[in-house]
Amino acid sequence: MFSRIAPRYDLLNHLLSLRFDVIWRKRLARRFADILARPGARILDVCCGTADLALALAELVPHSQRASGSAIRGADFSHPMLLRAREKAAGAPRRLELVEADALSLPFADASFDLVATAFGFRNLANYAAGLRELRRILAPGGSLAILEFAEPRGPFFRRLFGFYFRRVLPAIGAIISGNARAYRYLPESVARFPNPRELAELMEQTGFREVAFESWTAGIVTLHTGREGN
Ligand SMILES: C[S@@+](CC[C@H](N)C(=O)[O-])C[C@H]1O[C@@H](n2cnc3c(N)ncnc32)[C@H](O)[C@@H]1O
Repeated sequence: MFSRIAPRYDLLNHLLSLRFDVIWRKRLARRFADILARPGARILDVCCGTADLALALAELVPHSQRASGSAIRGADFSHPMLLRAREKAAGAPRRLELVEADALSLPFADASFDLVATAFGFRNLANYAAGLRELRRILAPGGSLAILEFAEPRGPFFRRLFGFYFRRVLPAIGAIISGNARAYRYLPESVARFPNPRELAELMEQTGFREVAFESWTAGIVTLHTGREGN
């Protein structure tokens, strides 16, 4: 499904979110500016799609470190998404290394990363507990996890208004522009069955993450979940 929508994925993201998606990824990146500024920090964008989050993270790497140091990595299991990511990576301020891999079984050694981040990807995993265990496995002791995901908005009026847009208008526009009606029906359906922020935070704690926290952005449309590797 993701491979089929890859050609129009960025256009639809920006259009359907009124470019809020760009603001959200940049905000996530700013939150981890201290890690990005560390010499040699090891960073992974999981379910990277066309690498917009990896690029937002790369933008915050200080100029003094851009030429040296390790690449920011992006992993996704959709080849067409990675092909688009590769085109965009050519202009990145920091080298991006793209890996075709399943987030449930990543080809990285234990304790490989200081920051593992994912935007709008985690919700799609077949097993959230297994996903969290795998992300924790590849984090270095004390390393940080960031999960940016959609949520149900706050407030009854806005929730109904947004619900109409998300379940009716968005799938219709998505179907016309991408030519794939199923993918844009899947989006609101997958958000509806995704654990609410409190439930996901509990799951992160049960998986062994510490300093687990979440914050709602833009009237609760999206939530940033954070935690640190527990050892
Ligand atoms: C909604 S897109 C998000 C892409 C990107 N992170 C962004 O911010 O736009 C979800 C991405 O997750 C990828 N994905 C879903 N399940 C995956 C899995 N199990 N392993 C790797 N990638 C996965 C899809 O291929 C798709 O590129």
